[in-house]
Amino acid sequence: PAGGRVFSGIQPTGVPHLGNYLGALENWVALQDQYPSVLYSIVDMHSITQPQDPNQLRGNILDMAASLLACGIDPERAIVFQQSQVSEHAELSWILGCLTSMPRLRHLPQWKIKSKLKSEGSVGLYTYPVLQAADILLYKSTHVPVGEDQVQHLELAQDLARIFNNRYGGLFPEPNALLSSTRKVKSLRDPSAKMSKSDPQTMATITITDSPDDIALKIRRAVTDFTSEVTFDPETRPGVSNLVTIHAAMATITVEEAVYRARGLDTGAYKKLVTEAVIQRLTPIREEIERLRSDRAHLEAVLLQGNHRARELAAPVLREVRQRVGF
Ligand code: ADP
Ligand code: NA
Repeated sequence: PAGGRVFSGIQPTGVPHLGNYLGALENWVALQDQYPSVLYSIVDMHSITQPQDPNQLRGNILDMAASLLACGIDPERAIVFQQSQVSEHAELSWILGCLTSMPRLRHLPQWKIKSKLKSEGSVGLYTYPVLQAADILLYKSTHVPVGEDQVQHLELAQDLARIFNNRYGGLFPEPNALLSSTRKVKSLRDPSAKMSKSDPQTMATITITDSPDDIALKIRRAVTDFTSEVTFDPETRPGVSNLVTIHAAMATITVEEAVYRARGLDTGAYKKLVTEAVIQRLTPIREEIERLRSDRAHLEAVLLQGNHRARELAAPVLREVRQRVGF
C-alpha cells in the first residue's frame, strides 16, 4: 500500500500498565495519523501458548479492546481486531513454519526466556515468532512498531519474507522496525527491572485503571535513594530518574522541564507532583474503560467490524500464497 501499512499486536493479558502505555500504546495512537493503513490485533492465539482460563481469556480480550479504544485508538482509522477470528493467520503461519528450521527458532527470546519458567514449553510457544511473522506478512505490512525485546522476532519475519519471495516469487515487502521510544518505565519497587505485568509485587506496577488513591499510594512507596534533591541520572539514581521519566511522559514535557519543575522540592514532595500528573493523565482513560466495560455490545461490535475488515485484506493475500505454494 502506498505510504505504508502498520501492523502491531498485543496479547490480551488484562489491563495494560504504564510501561505498555508509554512504551507502545501511546505510539500506536500517534501512528494512526502518520500512516494511511494501520492494523492493531489482539493476539489471543499467542496467549494460549501458555495455559489460559477460557472465561478469563474472553474477558481479557474485551478488556484489551476497551483499553485500546480508551487510550485513543480510533476504530475508524485503525483496524482493531481479534487474531483468532481471522483464520488466515493460522494458515499462513503453517506455511511459513515450513520455510524455517528448528535451530533458527531455538535462540529467539520468547522461547529462551519463557520455556525456562516451565518444565516444558509447548510447540506453540516454540513457533510463537512464526505466528508473529504471519500476522505481519498477511497484510503485506511495511512498518511494525516494536520494543527492543521484539527486534529479533521482527528479523525472523524479514527473513521469512525474503525466503518466501526467493522460493515462490516476490510477494511480501520486508517489514521495517519502528523502534518505539527508548523510554523504558521501571518497576516502582525495583528500578533496576522494567515495569512488567509478570511482576508479582502489585506495588511495583501502575495499571491504567488504577484509582487515584492507588496511584498515590504506589508512588509514595516507590523506591528512591538517600539524596533528597531531584536529578535525572538513570545510571546512578534509577529510582528518582524513573519518577522523572514518568512525570515528563505523563505531563508531555521534556525530562529537563520535569527536573526544572522539581527544583526546591525533596523527593517526597516531588512524588506528589508526579502523582498529580499521572492521575490527571489516567483519569479520563480509566473512566472511558469503565464506560466501555459496561457496554459490552459496543465492544463486540467494534471487534466484529475490525475482524471483517481484516479478513477482507487477508483473504486475497492468502489466496495468492496458496496458489504460489501449489495448493
Ligand atoms: P510485559 O513486560 O508487562 O509482559 P509485554 O511484553 O506484553 O509487557 O509488552 C507489550 C508492549 O509494551 C511491548 O511493546 C513492550 O515493548 C512494551 N513494554 C512493556 N513493558 C514496558 C516498560 N516497562 N517500559 C516501556 N515499554 C514497555
Ligand atoms: Na513480556
